Amino acid sequence: MVSVKLDNIWMSFGGLTVLKGISLDIGEGEFLTLLGPSGCGKTTLLRIIAGLYRPVKGRVLFDGRDVTGLPPWERNIGFVFQDYALWPHMTVFDNVAYGLRIRRVPRDEVRERVEEVLALVGLEGLGDRYPHQLSGGQQQRVALARAIVINPSLLLLDEPLSNLDAKIRVSVRGEIRKLQKRLKITTIYVTHDQEEALVISDRIAVVNKGVVEQVDDPWSLYYHPKTLFVADFIGQVNMVEGRVAEAGEGSAIVETGMGAVAARLEEEARAGDKVYLVFRPENVEVSREKPDGANVYGGVVGAAHFLGNILRVEVAVGGETVKAEIHNPLKRGVLKPGEKVFVSVDPDSVLALKRASRVD
Ligand SMILES: Nc1ncnc2c1ncn2[C@@H]1O[C@H](COP(=O)(O)OP(=O)(O)OP(=O)(O)O)[C@@H](O)[C@H]1O
Ligand SMILES: [Mg+2]
Repeated sequence: MVSVKLDNIWMSFGGLTVLKGISLDIGEGEFLTLLGPSGCGKTTLLRIIAGLYRPVKGRVLFDGRDVTGLPPWERNIGFVFQDYALWPHMTVFDNVAYGLRIRRVPRDEVRERVEEVLALVGLEGLGDRYPHQLSGGQQQRVALARAIVINPSLLLLDEPLSNLDAKIRVSVRGEIRKLQKRLKITTIYVTHDQEEALVISDRIAVVNKGVVEQVDDPWSLYYHPKTLFVADFIGQVNMVEGRVAEAGEGSAIVETGMGAVAARLEEEARAGDKVYLVFRPENVEVSREKPDGANVYGGVVGAAHFLGNILRVEVAVGGETVKAEIHNPLKRGVLKPGEKVFVSVDPDSVLALKRASRVD
């Protein structure tokens, strides 16, 4: 177990600056996920932590010790690469044993440790197979076994599930998390799948164009996003632009295309400020009769999509389109396009945000 500190990391390739002052603290045994769109710099950051790239500026510290100049093999890191590249001409056993052999671990110990780790990832008895004789999920586990066999103090996993189909992803991600907890390895995990990030992580760092937008536990990230980018990237969101009419302690009235909306406010704002209102489809109520309370708007049903367990509807309200998710559709009955309805959203479920993102 090791703690990792990234201190103001900058990285460029040619004229392109891809990391712009990344600072992060990852605790001992923590499972931290880097989440962000393609090209935002996730792999680059992992490679810097592993020592495969030297940052243009900034420091990497393990347990407070500056390792920025250390080569990868002196960092005791297990790395599962994005394409997990197993050696096709080597058996599963040899793939996993490789890291031990180059560390000159004695033969008997190699056998023992490889077998132990293969059992740990559920590949007992498959040591003699070649990668092409395994399923995608099994190959993935070989890559994981290869990374953990060296008893790393830090595990770096770069989209390790990207080549798996949806069902296997869910089971393998559960296994990774269990294993990580059992071995207590500090882990930095990369994904651009927000659901995966929410399920698996202690904390998530949302990265956007080489900048960390926000680092928080899954719950806080979902309910207390600090920027529109974060709100929009994690889960589904309705976004409505408006101007603050009245700002109070923790709440505001905002003028929008839907009308006046009462919202929660988690930062300083005053009348006249431009804000983005964000609220989630699952917090929007749709009804035929006008409900009591604040934030009730008349609208017309546009598209409606039946997904089995939920009914997704879009309702035109003033100049805006409000997305709503109706759970238990059977109870509610079908909503037809063109039908007049009321939408309502609790003021506590609407957040007014001043910043679109931390990137210019
Ligand atoms: N070796 C390199 N030489 C030049 N440019 C690079 C190099 N590696 C990465 N880049 C560029 O840096 C940016 C960040 O790339 P990176 O691979 O870190 O993104 P990522 O967040 O991992 O994306 P993805 O989700 O698609 O894997 C991209 O614009 C990419 O083209
Ligand atoms: Mg990548």
